Amino acid sequence: MFSTRQHALGAALSGLVLALGASTAGAQDSPFTNKKTAECFSCHAMDPAQLGAPRHPPPKIAGQDADYLAGALLDYRDAQRNHYLMNSPASMIPEDALRALTEYVEGISADQLPRRALPVSDPAARARGAQLAADRCGVCHTTENTGSAGSGIPSLNGQYAAYILVTLQDYRLGVRRDAAMQDAAAALNDRQMADLAVFYESLTGLLPARP
Ligand code: HEC
Ligand code: HEC
Repeated sequence: MFSTRQHALGAALSGLVLALGASTAGAQDSPFTNKKTAECFSCHAMDPAQLGAPRHPPPKIAGQDADYLAGALLDYRDAQRNHYLMNSPASMIPEDALRALTEYVEGISADQLPRRALPVSDPAARARGAQLAADRCGVCHTTENTGSAGSGIPSLNGQYAAYILVTLQDYRLGVRRDAAMQDAAAALNDRQMADLAVFYESLTGLLPARP
């Protein structure tokens, strides 16, 4: 099963070079047909249930803050942030195409992507997570559907719990580096991390496209 997945991902990667190289100003109605992002969404709109048992699914990126997306892509390109599936796609984006790409991705709304029914979450965990989020995270990660709290701060609304959990662990370990987030993660125990992940996944999102 793992090798099948590797094959699919390998094909996605090799197609990416072509997709990014071709600049067409044609119909850009769907993230799956848009030349800039078709290969991105072959991974980023995958159904997590079909992935076997990876460490975490490719995170949702549609609707995400454009400045955050650009920063993340530059971090992967420069190996400041590392993942065996993302460093390569990030390094293939021409510098002068980055802004248009991230603004397009920010503008994608949830209804342009397949809807995936998430498993029913644990209501008690969700309630604990909601309280923690309000106390410790909301100052930076707003849960309001009006945009991110500031440029460069990612929306967590509706993000996969498995991705959030691994990411918090990565900050705690220092595998992923950001001063504010390493402090926030260091103050959380395992159960709090899991509760927060359940809470954020239960929200609608990511944030919808802004006008
Ligand atoms: C082969 C699969 C694959 C392809 C193709 C791919 N990605 Fe990714 N992407 C991933 C995975 C897996 C992660 C999570 C990596 C991690 O944990 O750091 C990720 C992470 C990201 C992130 C960080 C998201 C966050 O919330 O921090 C961004 C931004 C991103 N990808 C954008 C893109 C864009 C834009 C493209 C197309 C140019 C693309 N990706 C192509 C698999 C892929
Ligand atoms: C002082 C502001 C601040 C606070 C407080 C904060 N964060 Fe963050 N968070 C950020 C910034 C900035 C980033 C982007 C860092 C980076 O690029 O790695 C981030 C990134 C993240 C990410 C990665 C998102 C992604 O798409 O990869 C997660 C998950 C996260 N924060 C969860 C939390 C949780 C849970 C809390 C509360 C316990 C919290 N944050 C508190 C500022 C903050």
